[in-house]
Amino acid sequence: MRVVILDSAAEMARVAGKESLERCGLLANRHGKRLGRVVLGLATGGTPVGLYRQWIEHFRAGEISFQSVTTFNLDEYVGLSSSDPRSYHAYMQEHLFDHIDIARENTHLPDGCAEDLNEAAASYEWQIEEAGGIDYQILGIGSDGHIGFNEIGSSLASRTRVKTLTRQTRSDNARYFDSMDQVPTMAITMGIGTIMSARSILLIASGESKSRAIRDAIEGPVTSMVPASVLQLHPDVTIMIDEEASRLLAHCDYYRESEANRVRLKSVSLGVTQGREFP
Ligand code: GLP
Repeated sequence: MRVVILDSAAEMARVAGKESLERCGLLANRHGKRLGRVVLGLATGGTPVGLYRQWIEHFRAGEISFQSVTTFNLDEYVGLSSSDPRSYHAYMQEHLFDHIDIARENTHLPDGCAEDLNEAAASYEWQIEEAGGIDYQILGIGSDGHIGFNEIGSSLASRTRVKTLTRQTRSDNARYFDSMDQVPTMAITMGIGTIMSARSILLIASGESKSRAIRDAIEGPVTSMVPASVLQLHPDVTIMIDEEASRLLAHCDYYRESEANRVRLKSVSLGVTQGREFP
């Protein structure tokens, strides 16, 4: 696991925004590489807003295009239609899709209003597979360590399905609704197995309210009681956090030193071998 600690949430958004575009080949990196079609897994919540803003800025500067991009969002509330302003469909339009040149038919979110939710979940999995799987998955993290809406106790092998939301998650997300009663009790979410099938994963988190979840995910045991801890088993995960979210980590010095060495090694190998930037 690569852990990157940045000074502030704004810096995290800037670095995560640029690096994610480079990793997906959308923004030419120092090798000048651009890839063909890319499939992105996208997250919602307050944390990715700054990252999406960076993407929009790079797009407005004429540096990137999303015409070769297909997206799959992690989750959607059960019972909220895509036109409901509190839905994740609406969130994605507002914070990203309305501002870039992505083709609407290439954007996907689970259908939280489907008559048959199980069938909608199965079809979502199938669509991801049809698209060739997710190349790069963006994740936030819940204050209890959930990813997507995979609540505590989720099977670490789960695929897209309906999950009941915990009181903690509903209360954390109540700020987007008029009252706690209005927060849906269920969601349709990619499973942990679905997320783990992504080729590369970037998890971002900021603020003290995430410090416990971040410590448990990075330095605790792998357990379904902290769904994000499963990321320890993935071969290509980067966790970018701000100082506040890193507060409870025991090994910050080591993570900083590793990152400094990584930058140093990268510049050496670039000079000598022109090797892959992210082995
Ligand atoms: C919800 C979403 C998650 C997100 C989490 C944290 O539960 N389903 O994908 O990571 O909220 O959101 P925030 O970034 O607002 O703290």
